[in-house]
Amino acid sequence: MQAGPQQANTRKNQAKRSDAEDSRKTFESVCATCHGLDGKGGERGPNVATRAEVQRLSDEETLRILKAGIPAAGMPAFGALGLPKIKAVMGYLRVLQGGSKAASIRGDPQSGKLLFFGKAGCAKCHMINGEGGFLGADLSSYGLNVSIEDLRTAITEPNKDLEPMERTVVVTTREGQKFTGIARNEDNFSVQLQTLDGAFHLLAKADLKHLEYQPKSLMPADYGAVLSAGELDDLVSFLLHTAQTAKQTQASGGKVKREDGDE
Ligand code: HEC
Ligand code: HEC
Repeated sequence: MQAGPQQANTRKNQAKRSDAEDSRKTFESVCATCHGLDGKGGERGPNVATRAEVQRLSDEETLRILKAGIPAAGMPAFGALGLPKIKAVMGYLRVLQGGSKAASIRGDPQSGKLLFFGKAGCAKCHMINGEGGFLGADLSSYGLNVSIEDLRTAITEPNKDLEPMERTVVVTTREGQKFTGIARNEDNFSVQLQTLDGAFHLLAKADLKHLEYQPKSLMPADYGAVLSAGELDDLVSFLLHTAQTAKQTQASGGKVKREDGDE
């Protein structure tokens, strides 16, 4: 293409547009080999676009990582690009992360912790750092690999994308005993059920009058209504904070640092 005189008139606009274009190109040529063109991760680098943990890094922290790298973990230092270019790449990274929406996690982790172990009853079924119940997944590092949006959905819509093994099982024995729980194992002759109290029950199918898989999770489906928007933010923020702390502990050589002290 030839540079014509018309171009001079719109130089300002174009300069802006080509800045954005440049930062995209820089990302695609420098970062994408490891993090993927969309930033969602590749063989040599993790997802830096939709992972909540990365979305939550402040601009300052992100710049520090880009400048100094994390050499031990395989993330090179890019200080040589110069600050303006690094800032531009970070801008493009924020675009990949979904802009301001991603950065707007408001809740208070401390209040979220009180909810988790108190009123909201999450700890009846979920464990965090060794405390809580066994029925649901251990959520200590759950926040590392999900977006803020997915985390919220996991709490408010537990029946969405339910895995077959996560369905609620209700059985009635021939003697009239009734159990509700999750099937941890099942074959032609028996089913191993874990009930709400965490106990395991190995039941012979010959002894059962009725066995039903319900198309819903044991997790209450009404948290979206029972908890206020602010309380949900608090819980999300607590789960993210916990996961991040777990990762930092790991990174510092597995030294266990517990906020609560040992019982
Ligand atoms: C040679 C591969 C490679 C290249 C090139 C690379 N990265 Fe990384 N990056 C990594 C790895 C591996 C990690 C994970 C470090 C860790 O586990 O702590 C990482 C981590 C990060 C993190 C922090 C994520 C976290 O989990 O805290 C950000 C942000 C990031 N990279 C952005 C970029 C940007 C922007 C570029 C381009 C300027 C880039 N990276 C280029 C491999 C790479
Ligand atoms: C009565 C038991 C119960 C209670 C109470 C409960 N959950 Fe769950 N939760 C489950 C079960 C069962 C699943 C689905 C199986 C799994 O992944 O653990 C689940 C799934 C989840 C998941 C998705 C986990 C994954 O690996 O996909 C999250 C996140 C979660 N619960 C958070 C919470 C939070 C936060 C609370 C409190 C507001 C809560 N749960 C209360 C039982 C419960």
